[in-house]
Amino acid sequence: MADMHIETARANLEKKGFLDMDIDITLDLFSEIERLKKEKNAIILAHYYQEPDIQDVADFIGDSLGLAQKAQSTNADIIVFAGVHFMAETAKILNPDKKVLLPDLKAGCSLSDSAPPELFRKFKDQYPDHVVITYINCSAGMKALSDIICTSSNAQAIIESLPVDQKIIFAPDKNLGAYLKKKTGRDMILWNGSCIVHEIFSLEKITKLKIRHPKALLIAHPECEEPILRLSDFIGSTTSLLKYTIESKAQEFIVATETGILHQMQIQSPGKTFIPAPPDNMCACNDCPYMKLNTLEKLYLCMEYEEPQIIMEKELIDASKKAIIRMLEISNKVGL
Ligand code: 13P
Ligand code: SF4
Repeated sequence: MADMHIETARANLEKKGFLDMDIDITLDLFSEIERLKKEKNAIILAHYYQEPDIQDVADFIGDSLGLAQKAQSTNADIIVFAGVHFMAETAKILNPDKKVLLPDLKAGCSLSDSAPPELFRKFKDQYPDHVVITYINCSAGMKALSDIICTSSNAQAIIESLPVDQKIIFAPDKNLGAYLKKKTGRDMILWNGSCIVHEIFSLEKITKLKIRHPKALLIAHPECEEPILRLSDFIGSTTSLLKYTIESKAQEFIVATETGILHQMQIQSPGKTFIPAPPDNMCACNDCPYMKLNTLEKLYLCMEYEEPQIIMEKELIDASKKAIIRMLEISNKVGL
């Protein structure tokens, strides 16, 4: 279904001669994008994992929760989503009448891919008295099978909003799930999914780095594996990691999440040092290959041609919306 959507969008782009089009190198893409924003009443929402140029032209940069909240409240006619597919899809579910553009439709997510709805339905059917809390990093099909969506910012609050004896299935991230089980003391059933970026960090190399930089604090996203989290001085969503580096008196940080966040950390605290946590091989695998499919050129082209856009069937929008709205209501209630 998703592949068919990508192929249709690709065919449309090819018809317009847009895929093979070279961008005039004399164009100042930054000012062109500003022009298009005004002309089309478009807003650019970017995740912290986007490349620095994209973050610099965005109207709002945030974590998954901040981006969903901004998508819910915007008055723009067009939402340009500089992030991955499930994020743009969430924006579309919240704004079925608006045009939602994603610079590269192939910007998927390994964590989302680890939970195919048809398999999850069978899994969930084994636990009929359980509430399903699903991390926002999943497809609309998964959201439709869920009772409440959560992000890394509000997952604990969402779990704690349920009665203590309520049985829970948590999907799809097993690392975040295990971290939350420990934090909340709830015995949740976990789906066995994970993120390729957050599972790449080398405990051995981080330990060596800590010895070489004894004053550096290790900060980590809860999608990381347990041994990394156990060693960390602070654990949180991308927004809370950024906030922590601003407020902390420490001058050096080893950052165990996708490298895109370092751009904002450096802007907010120019005098501090940020070291990306090393992966367990020699390549830069703590760059998310999906997030990095979006480029400034693709962002400009998608705004100019208003393609590719997120297209969804009404039934899927209606079925997946309830669990997202429930998340936004609980977050609002607890002041997140
Ligand atoms: P947050 O944006 O909630 O920190 O999640 C990080 C992530 O992996 C997004 O894909
Ligand atoms: Fe998905 Fe991981 Fe990339 Fe986030 S960093 S989009 S969870 S693959």
